[in-house]
Amino acid sequence: MAEGFISDEDIQKVREANDLVAVIGERTPVKQRGRDFWCCCPIHNEKTPSLKIDPAMQLWHCFGCGAGGDVFGYVMKTEDMSFPEAVRRLAERAHIDIASTGTRGGASSSKRARLKDICKETADFYHLQLMRNPAQDAAEARSYLGARGLGGVVPKTWQLGFAPGKGALVRHLSSKGFKADELIEANVAAKGRDGKLRDRFFNRIMFPIFDVQGDCIAFGGRVVGKGEPKYLNSQETPVFHKSEVLYGLHKAKVGMAATGIAVVVEGYTDVIALHEHGVGNAVATLGTALTMKHIRILGRHAQKRIVYLFDGDAAGQRAADRALAFIDESMTPEAGKSKVELCAVTLPDNLDPADFVEKRGAEELKRLIDSAQPLLQYGIDRRIAAHDLSRPEGRTRALSEALAVLAPIKDSLLAKDYAVQIASRVRAREEDVLAQLALLRAPQGYASAEDQSDSSEQPAPAQTAESRFARLSQAEKNRLRFERELLSVLAQHPLVALAHADALAQLQWHDAAHDAIAQSILDTLMQDPGASSGALITNAARLLPQASGILTSSSLAEGQTPDIVAAYLCEELSLGDAEDAVSMLKAQLADPRGMPAEEQELLFESVVGMQRDLTQRRLAHKPLI
Ligand code: CTP
Ligand code: MN
Repeated sequence: MAEGFISDEDIQKVREANDLVAVIGERTPVKQRGRDFWCCCPIHNEKTPSLKIDPAMQLWHCFGCGAGGDVFGYVMKTEDMSFPEAVRRLAERAHIDIASTGTRGGASSSKRARLKDICKETADFYHLQLMRNPAQDAAEARSYLGARGLGGVVPKTWQLGFAPGKGALVRHLSSKGFKADELIEANVAAKGRDGKLRDRFFNRIMFPIFDVQGDCIAFGGRVVGKGEPKYLNSQETPVFHKSEVLYGLHKAKVGMAATGIAVVVEGYTDVIALHEHGVGNAVATLGTALTMKHIRILGRHAQKRIVYLFDGDAAGQRAADRALAFIDESMTPEAGKSKVELCAVTLPDNLDPADFVEKRGAEELKRLIDSAQPLLQYGIDRRIAAHDLSRPEGRTRALSEALAVLAPIKDSLLAKDYAVQIASRVRAREEDVLAQLALLRAPQGYASAEDQSDSSEQPAPAQTAESRFARLSQAEKNRLRFERELLSVLAQHPLVALAHADALAQLQWHDAAHDAIAQSILDTLMQDPGASSGALITNAARLLPQASGILTSSSLAEGQTPDIVAAYLCEELSLGDAEDAVSMLKAQLADPRGMPAEEQELLFESVVGMQRDLTQRRLAHKPLI
């Protein structure tokens, strides 16, 4: 979706109209403690509150998972929204109209309502065609569905329809007052090469696709019987984003809340068959792989588990392998914080879910769903099962392929547990397998969906950054900690940041992310010296997603003031830079080959001088209490 332009004034207006404590409080119980408010972090699962809300600053930070930001960041994180989407959502909440500022792209709510009206009218029309149209092709659609066990109440329950094509829909919608470009935008009609408006779906059985509230937003159209393409789906529209819609969710959400479990299958017809057999917590993706967005959405409805049900046929097994690649990503610390457990199970005997409930019944299917393995275990089992463990070569292959599943989480305790398990299954020595695990390379650049940075200049994702961090010297760890602390204090106190602008510009940041954040803070202040801390943080986060967590992480101790802390940190870091410079010169002096004697002398003098300076500054640099 094109990011609509929203002016800075509008952003500011919306920020001021949405009190952070109130916004968070609408979703999670919030308790006041002293000056601040605390609540349980909705991003990672926890029982005791570690998310702090600073009402004066209008910032939040979770000391459990490190996330943080302003009110927009909160909505982006918890609602899976982009920045403009979050601004629009909060504008709606505060009844602020920002549609009038010449925005483009993000559809206004009246536009969205209009497109949904078209979809609803279309679904009604198609449904009536399926139920009543006496023409032969409609009759064939009816008998096809009946023969597949999708007759009786099913068409009514799922509002199934039939698209006769031949301009019937365009004529119907035009008579209701909808305009040509609206029909095109809703993707129920399209212009032909001759410029004439045509029905988009022709001679197909129609599956309306609903959003979570049950409003029709798109269609899947299946050929009647055999034919290609088997399914034709609506393209993306302002109300339909394929990667975040799940077929059947409007019905399944009740079952998910009741059982705590979400069942994910592949086909529309599978969802329908499962629901009709009493498995009411099933949904399907729209012919796409499951995304992180899907998982977060499902996690809101199902508190315990998400179970993928893979078809037993070859296509289903390919999907399972695709999911394994995805698991790798989903098992990074980022997803590990999501409270739902991801599980998977393959249906036996080449069956798809619809066949399975038909032949073996719902009870049998529920048992299978209950037996689903955690995704990591499932992946390891799949890879081990692919080899003949009675032969040494088979065991070796099984070992390395199963271990590879653990690569992205290789430094975790969980990975070690699994590695020990793998060792015993392939009859290898534990120490050898653990050593092999340690040598695995974590896959590079498995940036999550929301971290779209693919430039190699960008800092590595959290996982690798963390393991890199573990290998640093204590001095370097302190340095990075001080850098973060300074950036955070400055971002939270723009006036103090202004006073230390030269430090922001001159310090030799030891981390590329810190450098980028410092630059962003400077840029924002340059544009608007009165910028709020919210603006500083939001702008930095738009450049670099991890900035919001970093910039909200500091909190001043009792009796500390931001200017004293900032001055201390600036001096500490600048001393570090000076020490680095001195040691570089010393290294040159230690190996003066080719340097004229005169120059050596000068260099020596200046090193001595700098060293004396440094010692003075170190002495004067009293630790903060
Ligand atoms: N799909 C698609 N385009 C296709 C084939 C499939 O978009 N050409 C998507 C549809 O969302 C479909 C899902 O992939 O529901 C699973 O495909 P498949 O198992 O072939 O379809 P079923 O829904 O099981 O349909 P049926 O049982 O009628 O064959
Ligand atoms: Mn099928």
